[in-house]
Amino acid sequence: MTQIGIIVGSLRQAAYSQKVANVLANLLPVQLTPVFIDIGQLPLYNADLDEDDTVPAWQTFRQQLDDVDGLIIVTPEYNRGMTGALKNAFDVGSKRRNHWKHQIALVVSSSPEATGGFGANQQVRQVLVTLNVFPVQRPEVYLGHVNHLFNDQNLMTNLDTLSFLQTAVNAFVDLQAKFDPQPADELN
Ligand code: FNR
Repeated sequence: MTQIGIIVGSLRQAAYSQKVANVLANLLPVQLTPVFIDIGQLPLYNADLDEDDTVPAWQTFRQQLDDVDGLIIVTPEYNRGMTGALKNAFDVGSKRRNHWKHQIALVVSSSPEATGGFGANQQVRQVLVTLNVFPVQRPEVYLGHVNHLFNDQNLMTNLDTLSFLQTAVNAFVDLQAKFDPQPADELN
């Protein structure tokens, strides 16, 4: 079974990022199973605690990254960058060995502002490259005015956006299918 890890950069319950992530999960074809990976439980990274008997939540998270075959990352924007929670997740997953490994990632940013989380999106892409993850290059997905894209039932009512997201997911799926995964250890 091919599993796609979905990571949401916001921790709040009513997050637009979570709503967008739910839409993306539903746009995946049946052969790809979405797996939501929670980053809200991860203590801040501290190398002093990362010995053999490391923090259990870090261990669980690293295993979850090892188990997936591709990533969808949905990020809000805080102060023109990604959230602290998301950066912490990148840091936790990058240590002991690089658990982000060699895979494809679709990066989607959103914001109630018109700018669609552009700054956060670019920052995530930069970190992914460092971690030897391959971001889908195009289309770039910056969802502005995200607060107007859903109805009271949290359904995405804007059909143009839905169609655009399907195009982005298709690009991700095509790239992921062509991808030849290599052992993460070779790419640290
Ligand atoms: C924000 N927000 C915000 N929006 C934006 O477009 N650019 C920004 O730089 C920031 N900065 C920022 C900092 C902090 C600390 C907060 C709490 C918020 C607004 C943000 O986009 C809005 O709260 C979104 O709703 C957050 O995303 P979720 O939680 O809905 O996914």
